[in-house]
Amino acid sequence: MVIAFYNMLLSHDYNSRRSSASSQTRNIRMTVLKNLFKKMAVSRSMLKKTLPVLIVMAFVSLCLLVYWYDSSDSPKPSSMMPIYNAHVVEGSSPNPAAGYNARTNAIPIYPIERSWTYKCVNNRCVRHHFVDGVEEEFESSSSNNVHQQQSQTHGAGASGSSSSSSTSPASSKRIPYLTCTMTCGPINIWPQPTGATSIGSKTSRFRLSDMRMKVVTIFPAVEKLLHEAYDVMRTELRGVMVAHGATLEEIEGAVPASSLPSVLMPLTEQQRRAESEESNGEAGASGMPSDGGAGKRSVPGDAGVGKIHFFKLVSDKRYDADALEVNLHVEKSPATFLTLHTDESYNMSVTHSARVLIVKISANTFFGAKHGLTTLQQMIWFDDEERTLKILNKASIEDMPKFNYRGLMLDTSRHYFTVEAIKRTIVGMSHSKLNRFHWHITDSQSFPLVSRHYPQLARYGAYSEREVYTPDDVRELAAFAKVRGIQIIPEIDAPAHAGNGWDWGPKHGLGELSLCINQQPWSNYCGEPPCGQLNPKNNHTYAILQSLYAELLEAVGPLDYFHIGGDEVNLECWQQHFNDSDMRTLWCDFMLQAYHRLQLAAGGQNSTVAPGLVGVWSSGLTSAPCLSKNVFAVQVWGGSKWPENFQLINAGYSLVISHVDAWYLDCGFGSWRSTGDGACTPYRNWQTVYKHRPWDEMKLNSLQMRQILGGEACLWTEQVDESILDARLWPRASALAERLWTDPVEERYSESVPLVVYNRMSVFRNHLLELGLRAEPIFPKYCAQNQDECV
Ligand SMILES: *[C@@H]1O[C@H](CO)[C@@H](O)[C@H](O)[C@H]1NC(C)=O
Ligand SMILES: *[C@@H]1O[C@H](CO)[C@@H](O)[C@H](O)[C@H]1NC(C)=O
Ligand SMILES: *[C@@H]1O[C@H](CO)[C@@H](O)[C@H](O)[C@H]1NC(C)=O
Ligand SMILES: *[C@@H]1O[C@H](CO)[C@@H](O)[C@H](O)[C@H]1NC(C)=O
Repeated sequence: MVIAFYNMLLSHDYNSRRSSASSQTRNIRMTVLKNLFKKMAVSRSMLKKTLPVLIVMAFVSLCLLVYWYDSSDSPKPSSMMPIYNAHVVEGSSPNPAAGYNARTNAIPIYPIERSWTYKCVNNRCVRHHFVDGVEEEFESSSSNNVHQQQSQTHGAGASGSSSSSSTSPASSKRIPYLTCTMTCGPINIWPQPTGATSIGSKTSRFRLSDMRMKVVTIFPAVEKLLHEAYDVMRTELRGVMVAHGATLEEIEGAVPASSLPSVLMPLTEQQRRAESEESNGEAGASGMPSDGGAGKRSVPGDAGVGKIHFFKLVSDKRYDADALEVNLHVEKSPATFLTLHTDESYNMSVTHSARVLIVKISANTFFGAKHGLTTLQQMIWFDDEERTLKILNKASIEDMPKFNYRGLMLDTSRHYFTVEAIKRTIVGMSHSKLNRFHWHITDSQSFPLVSRHYPQLARYGAYSEREVYTPDDVRELAAFAKVRGIQIIPEIDAPAHAGNGWDWGPKHGLGELSLCINQQPWSNYCGEPPCGQLNPKNNHTYAILQSLYAELLEAVGPLDYFHIGGDEVNLECWQQHFNDSDMRTLWCDFMLQAYHRLQLAAGGQNSTVAPGLVGVWSSGLTSAPCLSKNVFAVQVWGGSKWPENFQLINAGYSLVISHVDAWYLDCGFGSWRSTGDGACTPYRNWQTVYKHRPWDEMKLNSLQMRQILGGEACLWTEQVDESILDARLWPRASALAERLWTDPVEERYSESVPLVVYNRMSVFRNHLLELGLRAEPIFPKYCAQNQDECV
């Protein structure tokens, strides 16, 4: 409560400061620029001759102004955070799937470090004072700033047409931390690519508006998704610039025409048409209604300013390239739904010649190409000294995941999370290359899912009218996730973990749908209050489940893996009502009936594929051999050393691993009840998450390895709500992501996580902040600024 209020205050304060900063800056800049041109009263004919000179002058003055403003502001770094934030980002996307504004809840990311500059020394960034625009003396070592990964050749031959700021000697320019760390030492891609990879250390400066995409695929649905994914990337890159306080001019890489004297406005009607066609081409190709590229070329003014047109100078010395072409090739598969067999591999190359940057990403599926775009995005950053985007301009990457199931589970029953918060989570997953969002929608605490056929469930079971997910919300999230390469796996936990929301049966003539709802003393009838367990002998219970399955499949399907819960059944609860000799049989029958209903639900729709594999949580009951290993997969959540691991492997089940001692992200915050110990303590830090390698610990052979579908981090939300969601998940879920994508083997470092991983993790955590996620820091900022000195 207190925390939420504090956050509200903070964000309010932050917002107001942001908007005043932005309008002030813009006004000051424009006034000065106008005055400058007023003084130069020149005739039209003269102007024609001097136009190039004027253009150069305009830029010089602009640069000076940027510098002047920036340097005058240094005592209050936080106040110059996102300038133009709100309008730039909001108007920027013509694509509803991309329409998420990651920076709505923006937190100030690291301010510009004006007093430090970084030098690459022996593959390591070293911090130096940079006072009054002068770098302090330090002994010059032979800097060896070349990326190297695995056994690959390094980027010695990195293309020469561009400048590499990190190597330019005696530069009076400050080299920001990000630029240094991106060009020095091991490469910063998270998760690390698995195949042959070499990336040079040379960079090229480019402007966002020079980025173009070309799709080569014969599959229209794939083409549409690729356009959407590309739009997402552009929107996010723009957001990152905004987060770093880039001005509108810097973002567009052009001068707003309105700030130039009218005689200099070069956009003829013809040009304007050409420009709007070009942006229509981009938006229109994705099959979305185009807004004429309004977001790209102009800004909806917040004070009736109206549209601003841009005057882009064709060849600009601030940039090393006039074009960045992203070529996406997907030739093999028309698939637009992720399955357990989807080929997510991709190959990527980046080259730079003659002021053109060419990126080529080839993949067999949309999902592979999407991962390629994610990697590309991690090779691009904003240099806050040169005020441009930079890209590593020579690269060759081959990459594919080690495991196909790379999940993250969120429980939205103990606490409700808004659609916006779930989207933010999906953004984090996407950048970590996690691909399954396991949505534990309901539990005995609350039932937030609004069913079309059974609206009573949410009416009687949600925490409030507002804390619900409508069918449209679910559909929206599924589309949002798909563009980001992620499949939503919904779960209506049953038969246990179902109480509130199921209590209206008798009133509506359907009998008891669930038993022991909120019964006390709870510890006799369930593992955690409040109790509730579905009635296995009421046909209406199954009919409702079938209906929920059908609605969910329609919204998020088709999908080949579904989750029906099945955990922590309390036999005492049922025993009060039935005296069948074997309660286990009752559970088995329930699971089989639920599975049957799922098949019916899937069959009821033409377009969906029946889930071939159904996930259930491990429990004492999963060792009962009543569930066929051909259709049931088990999500193992017990301890990594529990015998169930081997029992399930030996019984032939496919496993998704979520070991409580490594991959439970909710642990370590003490008990929330007066009785009972903190069920799972201590806190699993990111190193624990990262180092856990169960297939290794269990010494599985290659045949057994095929039973491991992958892993999943779980976040149960007894003690988590939206105010701290990001910090609980990130960057720890990313640590799991690398375990599952790359599965690095660190034989040399058996006891701890290698040093280089700390640095890469720190950079990735920074990336998450830029994307608007409130990821937890992994060590003091000093340790980020002073690589290797802490760990
Ligand atoms: C990537 O390159 C490797 C080696 O040339 C090749 O075997 C593989 O099929 C390529 N993958 C894709 C997705 O193009
Ligand atoms: C439940 O429904 C099935 C078929 O829908 C039917 O065969 C069975 O008799 C019903 N059971 C009860 C107890 O109503
Ligand atoms: C249920 O159990 C009671 C004793 O506990 C027994 O008398 C009764 O016959 C049982 N009923 C059924 C249907 O098995
Ligand atoms: C549903 O499937 C049947 C047979 O597979 C087909 O004849 C029918 O046209 C399909 N209906 C729709 C709406 O796709």
